[in-house]
Amino acid sequence: MVATILDELADTVAPGVTTADIDAHNMELLKKYGVRSATIGYRGYKHSSCISVNHVVCHGIPGRKRLQKGDIVNIDVTVIVDGWFGDSSRMFVAGQPSRRAERLIQVTHDCLMLAIDEVRPGATFGDIGAAIQKHAALHRMSVVREFCGHGIGREFHLPPNVVHVGQRGQGAVIQEGMIFTIEPMINLGAAETKILADSWTAVTRDKSLSAQFEHSIGVTKDGAEIFTLSPKGRFFPTYVSL
Ligand code: MF3
Ligand code: CO
Ligand code: CO
Repeated sequence: MVATILDELADTVAPGVTTADIDAHNMELLKKYGVRSATIGYRGYKHSSCISVNHVVCHGIPGRKRLQKGDIVNIDVTVIVDGWFGDSSRMFVAGQPSRRAERLIQVTHDCLMLAIDEVRPGATFGDIGAAIQKHAALHRMSVVREFCGHGIGREFHLPPNVVHVGQRGQGAVIQEGMIFTIEPMINLGAAETKILADSWTAVTRDKSLSAQFEHSIGVTKDGAEIFTLSPKGRFFPTYVSL
C-alpha cells in the first residue's frame, strides 16, 4: 500500500509545488484506497507524511515551502491496513538535481540494498549497520546516528532499534519471521544533526544535503522479503518530474 501510494505521489513532485500540496495529494490517495495514516495523531504529529527537502534529514513537516528546481525530496509514508503498519520512504527530485545530489541519492539507495542483502536468519543487526557504514565511508559520506530503523507490525515502532552503523557479528541475532524497517539517512557532510524549534524537523548541523530510503522487510527462511517494493519500478532510479 505505501509503495503504491509513493508511486502515485511521484507525479506530484515538481518545481513550484509546496510540500503541503504533496501531503494533500497523499491524503486523497489514503481516502481513495480507504486506508488510515499512521502518522496523523502520532505523538502530536498532524500530517499524513513527512517530507524532507535537501538538508532536512527526516521528519520534515509539510507546509508552504515551494520546491525549487534541483531540490531533493524524501517522502515518508506510513499506513495501517487491517491493523498492520507499513512504512517506506524514498527520494524524489524536482527537476534534474546536481551531480553531488545524484551521487548522494545513489549511495544512500545502495546502502539500504546492501543492508537488506545481509538479512537472513543467523546474521546480526551489527551486520546491517556495518554494511551501511562501510559503503557510506567508501564514498566519503556519513551515516546519521540519532535515528534508526525499527520493528514494525501491529504497531508503528517496535523493538529492536535497527541502527545504521555497527560491527559485523555484533548485536542481536536476526531470526526468521522478524519484521522491521531499515532506513539509513546519509549526509554529504558531517553526520551531526539538530532538531528545529518545531521539535520535529531534523536537519544536518552543517547544512549539507541528506538523503534517505526506507523499506519494511520480513525475514524469510534464507533471506529477506521486501514488503514495500514499488509496483511501478519507481523506488530507484529516482523518478524525475520536470
Ligand atoms: N515514518 C517515520 C519512520 O520511518 C516516522 C515518522 S513519525 C512522524 O519511522 F510522526 F513524524 F510522522
Ligand atoms: Co520507519
Ligand atoms: Co518511515
